[in-house]
Amino acid sequence: MNTDELKSEFERIFQQPAQGCARAPGRVNLIGEFTDYNLGYVMPAALEFCTTVLYRKRDDNRVVVYSHNYPGESDSFSVGTEIVAGESQWGNYVRGCAATVQADGGVLGGLDILIASDVPQGAGLSSSAALEVSVIGALNHAFGLGYSLEKIATLGQSAENDFMGCSCGIMDQLISAKGQAGHALLIDCRSLESNAVAMPDNLALVIINSNYPRKLVDSEYNQRRQDCETAAQKLGVETLRDADLATLEQAKDSLSADEYKRAHHIITENARVLATVGALQSGDIKALAESMTSSHQSLQRDFEVTVPATDTLVEICNSVLGERGVARMTGGGFGGAIVCFCPPEDVELVKIAVAEQYPQKCGLEADIYVCKTGAGLQVESLKGWSGHGNG
Ligand code: GLA
Repeated sequence: MNTDELKSEFERIFQQPAQGCARAPGRVNLIGEFTDYNLGYVMPAALEFCTTVLYRKRDDNRVVVYSHNYPGESDSFSVGTEIVAGESQWGNYVRGCAATVQADGGVLGGLDILIASDVPQGAGLSSSAALEVSVIGALNHAFGLGYSLEKIATLGQSAENDFMGCSCGIMDQLISAKGQAGHALLIDCRSLESNAVAMPDNLALVIINSNYPRKLVDSEYNQRRQDCETAAQKLGVETLRDADLATLEQAKDSLSADEYKRAHHIITENARVLATVGALQSGDIKALAESMTSSHQSLQRDFEVTVPATDTLVEICNSVLGERGVARMTGGGFGGAIVCFCPPEDVELVKIAVAEQYPQKCGLEADIYVCKTGAGLQVESLKGWSGHGNG
């Protein structure tokens, strides 16, 4: 839906035009999986899929929220007092953002909000981060909180950690806040410094959602993080970012089998991210294939977060593309999507192979998106909008 239609919908619901618009994208991670909460390196790119938040200040202390994606549903709560979880799952993200801003000392007032998103949900493309960053971007703008993009991302991560109960790292919120069209970002998750890396123009970026029903994702995710933290303690380092393979081998006997494997993934994945920067910039598919394939294998064997559906999609793509392309799982795992690079003229081959083989092998249909990278958070005032077309 375009912004004008959404503005009309806002005015129909709230009887007054919106005053501001915040927009934040979903993301695909090219490489660097689960390294974020070990304070290592990641290389995600923002997508054109995004979440849009229209808003208008109210005279009272109520926040009233509607979503274009959930017609007939709404949520409302008061600010300036403790904010607790409500009945609506999507509403809780907004509550979590407001609660986190307040806990950080931000003073909020009442707001009417309408949300719309085209980020595929449950696909591992960060629909939650897009929601958190767009909502906090809107609160920041509406109430003059003066946050930097890094601060918006950190608050979004806290909302997810403390209110939604998922111990995620900073990657998704940071790329949603700071993404640059045409580029991936190499992010150092310890300093939060980022460097733009141009996307290759000789390769298409294809994302394939397995549509595998994700179960127990948060508890498995949190367990992996726990394993990494215990491994770091046993290795005598602050986080696995500071460990190397030699230290890991020396300490092998003091680690459980899981702790060893998780640490092995993180240490090797950090090195792979750095090795991938040049390969991406120059569109060197051979070098990209090397690091992306070994990342997938490490996620499959050491971090154990792939499922037969994502493994199968990767195999289908890799076997139809041969040396011309490469695929790996992307995001939080346990289902979700895979990311594939191939020459634009091979996209059709990938589509046909997936349509023919995936349902037969896994009993599921996949969704395929040929994507461009998009920009990070954008916020604008809409005061000049004349409010037409609200019939
Ligand atoms: C999810 C989390 C991120 C990151 C990835 C795995 O997307 O939200 O913080 O850990 O999984 O790389």
